[in-house]
Amino acid sequence: MAAISTVVWHVDPNRPEAGILKEAGALIRRGRLVAFPTETVYGLGANASDPAAVAALFEAKGRPADNPLILHLAAADEALHYVRDVPPLAAKLIEVFWPGPLTLVFAGLRMLSPLVTGGLPTIALRVPAHPVALGIIRAADVPVVAPSANLSGRPSPTTAEHVIADLGGRIDAVVDGGSAPIGIESTVLDVTGPVPRVLRHGAVSTGEIAAVTGVMPEEVPGMEAKRPHYRPRVPLVLVEGQPQAIIGRILQLYNKHMAEGKRVGILAREERIHDYPGIVMACGRGEDARSVAACLYTAIRRLEADVDIILAEGVPAQTGAAVSERLRQAASQVIQAGDGL
Ligand code: TXA
Ligand code: MG
Repeated sequence: MAAISTVVWHVDPNRPEAGILKEAGALIRRGRLVAFPTETVYGLGANASDPAAVAALFEAKGRPADNPLILHLAAADEALHYVRDVPPLAAKLIEVFWPGPLTLVFAGLRMLSPLVTGGLPTIALRVPAHPVALGIIRAADVPVVAPSANLSGRPSPTTAEHVIADLGGRIDAVVDGGSAPIGIESTVLDVTGPVPRVLRHGAVSTGEIAAVTGVMPEEVPGMEAKRPHYRPRVPLVLVEGQPQAIIGRILQLYNKHMAEGKRVGILAREERIHDYPGIVMACGRGEDARSVAACLYTAIRRLEADVDIILAEGVPAQTGAAVSERLRQAASQVIQAGDGL
């Protein structure tokens, strides 16, 4: 596709300038592609009622046509325009988690182009909890779809710089509102059946969902599990296990790859960076999965620029299913430390 010039607007994330939100919203309404921060990651907004705009969005991201998009709403009551009904269990979740990082998949009313839903009879909805996202969606005054603003298959962007690195020259504008605070995507939950199904782990945990609904959701990997996703430009080897075993195995791999003349980067928890030599990127603290989520994609994107291979410490699945799922998807290889060291 021919390069276009991408405009960058800077805003205060808490008090964004109304004129910029209005201009960004107007661009989206007119069929253009505008990236903006949400509380999870940056999204790439397009007018869902304009099939040419949705087609351009798929092209800019290089996204497979069968991967459906999330419709982003400015307020929960707008959901009624797009869904067949809101089951009682979903109503409870909306009450507690919207605006916020929970995407709900409903039986749809087929109002929007099949391009939006990948031809599925369902529609995914979320109300983001970020003043910039909400302001732009309101200003656009059309239904807005917003996938993560990365090239398909890459880690999601948590800063405007990440968006430019992937999509500069391919989209019309980026509204730079600083870092996306949560750092990983929303949880995607299918509420079309009697038992909710987690299609993608995310910022809202399965336990938090169960506490609100009284039902433990099933875990059914969705579309993202089917293809490589969250992949850096260089191989990432994920080492899981107990901390001491992880350190031992990473040091062993470090020596092996250094001996082969490779530049090696290590992605480690803050409290362990002094256990490693060479290029070490600290991200998060041991038992605190949220602290890892907040820096995970930035750490991966920084390392991929400087090294030939990334060795990453794993996160116990019980401390953070979402982070551990992302790391496994980012990995070209997953090693269990302690197994035959
Ligand atoms: O946090 C987020 O959700 C971010 C921000 C920008 O809002 N958005 C995001 O969108 O992650 P995207 O397009 O990168 O991921 C959407 C996920 C995909 O895994 C897609 O397969 C799933 O939602 N999805 C969308 N519509 C669906 C549907 N009707 N049924 C099942 N899964 C659906
Ligand atoms: Mg994505």
